[in-house]
Amino acid sequence: MTITGVISVIGAGTMGNGIAHVFAQHGFKVNLIDVSAEQLNKAVTTISKNLERQITKGVITEDVKSKTISNITTLTSIAEGVKQSQLVIEAATENTDLKLGIFRQIDAAAPAECILATNTSSISITKIAAVTKRPGSVIGMHFMNPVPVMKLVEIINGYSTAKEVTDTIISLSKQLGKIPCVVNDYPGFIANRILMPMINEAVYSLHEGVAGVEEIDSIMKLGMGHPMGPLQLADFIGLDTCLSILNVLHQGFGNPKYAPCPLLTNMVTASMLGVKTGEGFYLYTPGNKELVVSKRFSL
Ligand SMILES: NC(=O)c1ccc[n+]([C@@H]2O[C@H](COP(=O)([O-])OP(=O)(O)OC[C@H]3O[C@@H](n4cnc5c(N)ncnc54)[C@H](O)[C@@H]3O)[C@@H](O)[C@H]2O)c1
Repeated sequence: MTITGVISVIGAGTMGNGIAHVFAQHGFKVNLIDVSAEQLNKAVTTISKNLERQITKGVITEDVKSKTISNITTLTSIAEGVKQSQLVIEAATENTDLKLGIFRQIDAAAPAECILATNTSSISITKIAAVTKRPGSVIGMHFMNPVPVMKLVEIINGYSTAKEVTDTIISLSKQLGKIPCVVNDYPGFIANRILMPMINEAVYSLHEGVAGVEEIDSIMKLGMGHPMGPLQLADFIGLDTCLSILNVLHQGFGNPKYAPCPLLTNMVTASMLGVKTGEGFYLYTPGNKELVVSKRFSL
């Protein structure tokens, strides 16, 4: 199957705005759907700013920017948004019950031949597929953050995903200029099964006073060649998302090695979620590019 029709993106947060941006820039009509009208406005502003940055770098023209923006329609109703879609990509908050509820709604409203994808970082594709009447058409399409920049799409086959659906998502990813890697459905898949224990260990190291925020991140950047330290990366991903993924790994494998560090849990409880709330391990003030360690952790 070739995707030429409307793409619906559910959730207009960190990932949803990036996914909508990339599809719209490649000429697809995109319905961007969120429960929050404020999040939708914020997403369009972010997409516009990111397109502006691409113009400054000479990557795209003003014309591409205006065509991209005009390809995006924002809506607050899932039923309305998905009813004429050929592909739905769910990128709402990383919470199993929330996603199961959203997939029930999508399944009831989307056309029978529509493919249902999820951008989940860790939740079972098979479990999500099981609440729909079309498990063969449900697949993981896991974009990386920031979506317009990162090349990888981790494609996850659920137990019932049809080969034709996987092939369609592989060629669509290539059409977007991305590099797809296909994996099987186990908690955290590959990307987060390996990344999250490292982030959790970095938080434990801070929690136990082994080193400070800057030292932990510098050691991993300078010593391992990582472009960003694990604590900064956690802020960038969202500490709530990191905690949810660790909980899925912990419950899914039943192995205590995945238990989230209590410091991470406390920070999420205190709404220190990283970039999206302005404070995590570092402080984020609009317009300031310098990395400043949160007062909570500075000496
Ligand atoms: N942040 C990352 O780096 C990253 C990377 C890859 C994948 N993911 C995955 O992408 C998904 C989204 O993560 P995010 O970081 O963009 O989260 P986010 O918190 O930035 O955004 C989530 C959005 O979902 C919306 N939402 C919540 N309930 C909804 C509903 N019922 N209907 C419609 N919208 C709803 C919220 O209003 C919010 O705008 C998660 O599954 C996450 O695991 C995140």
